[in-house]
Amino acid sequence: MGAQYLLLLIVGLVFADGASLVDVTIDEIVDSCGPYYTGYGPEKAIDGDTDSFWDSKYIEQYYNNWYITFKLSQRYTVTNVKLLNRGDSLHDVTKFKLEASDDQITWHSGGSVNDVMTGSHVWQGFTGFSASGKYLRINITETDSGIQPWLSELSFTGYAESLVDVTIAEIVDSCGPYYTGYGPEKAIDGDTDSFWYPKFIEQYYNNWYITFKLSQRYTVTNVKLLNRGDSLHDVTKFKLEASDDQITWRSGGSVNDVMTGSHVWQGFTGFSANGKYLRINITETDSGHQPWLSELSFTGYADLSGSGIQHGDEISESPMKLADGRYLSDDRYL
Ligand SMILES: *[C@@H]1O[C@H](CO)[C@@H](O)[C@H](O)[C@H]1NC(C)=O
Ligand SMILES: *[C@@H]1O[C@H](CO)[C@@H](O)[C@H](O)[C@H]1NC(C)=O
Repeated sequence: MGAQYLLLLIVGLVFADGASLVDVTIDEIVDSCGPYYTGYGPEKAIDGDTDSFWDSKYIEQYYNNWYITFKLSQRYTVTNVKLLNRGDSLHDVTKFKLEASDDQITWHSGGSVNDVMTGSHVWQGFTGFSASGKYLRINITETDSGIQPWLSELSFTGYAESLVDVTIAEIVDSCGPYYTGYGPEKAIDGDTDSFWYPKFIEQYYNNWYITFKLSQRYTVTNVKLLNRGDSLHDVTKFKLEASDDQITWRSGGSVNDVMTGSHVWQGFTGFSANGKYLRINITETDSGHQPWLSELSFTGYADLSGSGIQHGDEISESPMKLADGRYLSDDRYL
């Protein structure tokens, strides 16, 4: 009885934490660098058969751009890669990098490895990646002889990500003074009657902003906004930006058609604002006067990058550690 409760407690903690390492499930291969020999497609690298392998063709020596793009079953932060070279000391991967994307347009660097062992058909494990997205690309940037890789197997582990409410730690800045009792915190107090009411700002200022420090790094994808609805102080356009240091700001998307004259929640999706700090910049109101912003809330993905995982950290499967810091597992035991 006691042991059962203890087990439940442990399981509960692991899941509440949301940070348990899982196998990354691949939905499909959406792209690869080019043609391949019949029976040696890129799917051979993920078929679980350690004898089959991917063998691309018609690509010059030192191409160093042999890639496969995977659509994952959901959004993950991929942290660990296991790779099995064919081991013929000719077509063996020596260097590769990972990239991730949510839309296959913008790709984020997820880490790289420059010391893959060659001449050996044993699994090698590499840790410390941080590739967050729905799409994952491995780019093989070197083989031992410069000719195309023969890649036997590839697998990934990481953290499954789900859409969560973005927790705001504090408001760190806003565009200026406000009427007493109408500070920017009124836009996030959960009270739909209160509102933010900045003052001493000329008409058509179009730069009414609030900067939030979030409880951690997030990729913010969805915004909900509640206008006061008086057809005079209603937001019509806004944009999101994100930053990690409040110095460099990255564009996270914008909306140009917020409905006015109505005190109802409006939801907007498709943003990609990644960072520890988030800024909403209201760039237009219906009359050009300052906004009366009733409420604002954000959802997105908790971003584990920068959480302290470093390349070279131990992976959870306790494989053999080599003197040079790499990890090896004989595939007979996997
Ligand atoms: C793969 O990496 C090489 C070397 O950095 C780069 O030139 C190439 O554009 C990359 N390929 C893809 C598909 O990102
Ligand atoms: C808000 O957006 C306007 C219009 O693009 C721009 O001029 C202004 O610098 C932005 N404000 C901030 C704080 O980024």
